[in-house]
Amino acid sequence: MNRTPCAASCPIGRARFLRSSALGALAGIVGSGLFADPAFAQSVGSIVPTRSHGSVLTYALPAKEGALIDAGNGVILARVRNAVYALSTICPHRAVTRLEWLPDAREFHCPKHDAHFQPDGELIDGRPDRAMDRYAVHRAGQSLVVDTAAVFQQDAAQDAWSRAVVTVA
Ligand code: FES
Repeated sequence: MNRTPCAASCPIGRARFLRSSALGALAGIVGSGLFADPAFAQSVGSIVPTRSHGSVLTYALPAKEGALIDAGNGVILARVRNAVYALSTICPHRAVTRLEWLPDAREFHCPKHDAHFQPDGELIDGRPDRAMDRYAVHRAGQSLVVDTAAVFQQDAAQDAWSRAVVTVA
């Protein structure tokens, strides 16, 4: 698990650092990248697959940064700049609690034990010992194909977890 402190280099880590330092109000002035981009916080909504075949779900490719949640299938599509991830909605700590999105902090949050995760699923802090689980995902034209039967845990399948991303232009 990557717990490298990144308050000065990671956009979301920096956001959390600034918030905890009561400097968040200056973010739009001094920040850059995701933290300074209000589009991410505003772009959170729900999504349903355009097609489903067993565990394989097809979605429209997210056109902009943000999180789209398919609550019925337990899938979050998170686009962070040019990377799209298919994340599980279930907290990796107890595997029963559903995560929620905190638009102001731009984090996923577990209400059970107050854990926080970056938009790409990386653990920020809390009781879990790994990041949010990622589903296998690939691009098919303007669609995103997610296999919910292929779920990767960061600590058990580090390589597969890291590769579970689609890059978009
Ligand atoms: S169930 Fe999510 S942090 Fe414990």
